[in-house]
Amino acid sequence: MVPKHIALIMDGNGRWAKAKGKPRTFGHKKGSETLKQICKDAYNLGVEYITVYAFSTENWKRSTEEVSFLMNLLRSYLKESIKNATENNMRVRVIGDREDLAEDIKEAIIKMEEATKDFTGLNLTIALNYGGRDEILRGIKKQMNILIKEVTIESSDETADNQLTQLLNKINNINEKDFTLYLDTKGIPDPDLMIRTSGELRTSNFLPWQLAYTEFYFTNCHWPDFNRSELEKAIEYYNQRDRRFGGAK
Ligand code: IPE
Ligand code: IPE
Ligand code: MG
Repeated sequence: MVPKHIALIMDGNGRWAKAKGKPRTFGHKKGSETLKQICKDAYNLGVEYITVYAFSTENWKRSTEEVSFLMNLLRSYLKESIKNATENNMRVRVIGDREDLAEDIKEAIIKMEEATKDFTGLNLTIALNYGGRDEILRGIKKQMNILIKEVTIESSDETADNQLTQLLNKINNINEKDFTLYLDTKGIPDPDLMIRTSGELRTSNFLPWQLAYTEFYFTNCHWPDFNRSELEKAIEYYNQRDRRFGGAK
C-alpha cells in the first residue's frame, strides 16, 4: 500500500555540495529542484499528501549569507509555484510562524495558497520557519484566547467567579481532537511515513504532535540525490511495517 501522507526532512544539501567541492548554496539550489521532481513522482505513485521541512525555526542561526540565499531561493520557488502548481493540479500550503518572514514572502504565500486552494491533485505542505514546539505553543495561545473570549462574551452579566469557573471547565474539557484544530496542520491528516535523508537519526523539531504514530525511514542518501527509486525503497520499507496504533498484534 502506498502511504497517503509522507513527511520529508530534506537534509544533507550542505554535505552533498561539500563532497563535490562546491558551496553549501549549490546544494540548496539542487535540493529545490529535487523537491519539484519528487512531488511529481510521489503523486504518480499514488501519494496524496507531502509535507516537507524547508526551513526550521532553528535555521536562522546559520550564516547571514546562507539564510539570505535560502530566502531568495524561496522567493523564486514561490514566484513560479502558481504556474507549477497549476500544471500539476497541486494544492500548496505553508505551515510555521509567518510573522518573522519578509513582507513580500508573506504576500506570495497568501497568493499561492489562495490560487491553489481548489486543486485536487497532490497536497504539498511546506514547513517554513517551522518548529514543532513553537507550533504547539502558538496553538495553545490561540485556543486559550478563543476560550477566554467565548466565556467573557457569552456570560458578560455573570460574576467574575462564575466566569472563571466556566473558563476552567472549558479548559479541563479540551481534548486532542479539539486541540488539533489550533495546529498549523489543521485539516491535514497525520503522516503515515516520515523520511529523513542524509543519515541523521532525529526529527529536529519536525511535527512532534503529528508524527506520534508515523513510521520512520532514514536513508544515507543526501537530499539532492533523492529520486523516484529512493522513494520507492522507502515505500517498500513502509509496507513491511506492521501498523498497530497501540493495538495488539
Ligand atoms: C537541509 O540541508 C536544508 C536546510 C536545512 C535548509 P542542510 O543545509 O541541513 O545540509 P547539511 O545537513 O548541512 O548537509
Ligand atoms: C532540519 O535539518 C531542518 C530542515 C531540513 C529544514 P537541520 O540540518 O537543520 O537539522 P539538524 O541541525 O541536523 O538537527
Ligand atoms: Mg542538515
